[in-house]
Amino acid sequence: MLHPEITSDDIRAMHSVDGRVIIVTGSAQGVGRGMAHHLGKAGATVVVADYQADKLQRTCDELTSFGAPNLGVEVDIRDQDRINDMVAKTVDAFGRVDGIINNAQTFRANAPMAEILGEDVDVFYRSGVLGTLWAMQAVYPHMKKAGWGRIVNFGSSMGRVGGAGFGAYNASKEAIRGISRTAAREWASDGIIVNVIAPAAAPPRAAGSEHYEEFMRTCPMHRNGDPELDIGPIAHFLCTDACRYVTGHTFMVDGGNFMWS
Ligand SMILES: NC(=O)c1ccc[n+]([C@@H]2O[C@H](COP(=O)([O-])OP(=O)(O)OC[C@H]3O[C@@H](n4cnc5c(N)ncnc54)[C@H](O)[C@@H]3O)[C@@H](O)[C@H]2O)c1
Repeated sequence: MLHPEITSDDIRAMHSVDGRVIIVTGSAQGVGRGMAHHLGKAGATVVVADYQADKLQRTCDELTSFGAPNLGVEVDIRDQDRINDMVAKTVDAFGRVDGIINNAQTFRANAPMAEILGEDVDVFYRSGVLGTLWAMQAVYPHMKKAGWGRIVNFGSSMGRVGGAGFGAYNASKEAIRGISRTAAREWASDGIIVNVIAPAAAPPRAAGSEHYEEFMRTCPMHRNGDPELDIGPIAHFLCTDACRYVTGHTFMVDGGNFMWS
């Protein structure tokens, strides 16, 4: 079916995040900071949410320097009350929340399967799985009322392949994908779209490690992802109106390293 009533401006608006209010958790550094820059430069109002107050402020200052409206919110995503407060502050400031990118997760050294402790699982689950679940629950009533919402959660290729030595992390990342699919199914009729990004954009500190070097060898592009220019565009698309018929999916944003969806 063609749509003669749809104009070029309508199509451009579909692909735009201009004026959208989007929370990016974990945007004080790394992938989150890069996505915040990309979305801010594209016209979104970005809520920079993180538990590192000084670095969070740095991201806000950067967004302000290129004219992107923003709000910094100090939040620990292991705490449901703080997550609710983050969403309440967003709605107080801007009257709405169009999108949330649940990128933050607390890390700790991983252990082989035989040695994983309850505390290891707890850290990854509380920040990754519960943090993502609580954030989705917090934005849900606002998005449902608006009849429109975009949620982007974060998985990992490590979880998908069951990378050795990362059992607790892998379990949390696959659980995030599980609850993302359920939310996508339950909330599709509310106009809410939920997808997952599994990125490859290792921080500089990873260079030289066994996993990093193996990735550089096997990745068809033989390069590390750039948070702003490689991960940012997918996050952007997943927060637009153009992303209207894709939900519950995981996007491997990794230079073609894993060619399955
Ligand atoms: N970088 C990669 O190549 C890669 C690969 C696979 C998956 N991922 C996923 O992408 C996401 C971002 O990865 P990254 O490499 O940028 O990580 P990072 O550690 O560089 O950044 C994580 C950010 O989240 C914040 N954060 C951590 N715990 C928090 C908490 N409890 N409350 C609030 N903020 C908290 C940190 O302060 C930091 O700013 C993560 O979910 C990660 O698992 C990354």
